[in-house]
Amino acid sequence: MDIKKLITAALLARKNSYAPYSRYNVGAALLCDDGTTFLGANIENASYGATICAERCAVFKAVSDGKQSFLAIAIVGGKSDELDVMSDYAYPCGMCRQVLREFSDPSEFKIIVARSITDYKEYTLEELLPESFGPDHVK
Ligand code: THU
Repeated sequence: MDIKKLITAALLARKNSYAPYSRYNVGAALLCDDGTTFLGANIENASYGATICAERCAVFKAVSDGKQSFLAIAIVGGKSDELDVMSDYAYPCGMCRQVLREFSDPSEFKIIVARSITDYKEYTLEELLPESFGPDHVK
């Protein structure tokens, strides 16, 4: 897996973030097991609760295009005046972690949170969502 390439894709995705309310722009790049990558950005709404996070945007785009098996996601997020270097790592919210759980093996799936192309941290989904609830529990 080319992590720098995935972060570059997340930075590109972030450019399409629509976040006029929070002014916090997030981009995500989701790597599928067939090598394809789907981009996502947060899209806010005047009715705030209708907002979608970048990570779920990427997952829903991929699933609706027929992909259901994912290897990794890179995430970059920061205030709108931050361009290619973020002041913080943007960790996925709880709801996004759970959505990622639906389509990945928690001990294998990688979550890369990046401040820039060279400054990033890598986790497994299991590390960020321990003792999780998933499809096997209800099948
Ligand atoms: N946001 C994401 O895109 N991903 C997350 O995991 C956390 C939050 C977005 C939602 C909203 O548009 C903005 O960040 C501020 O909460």
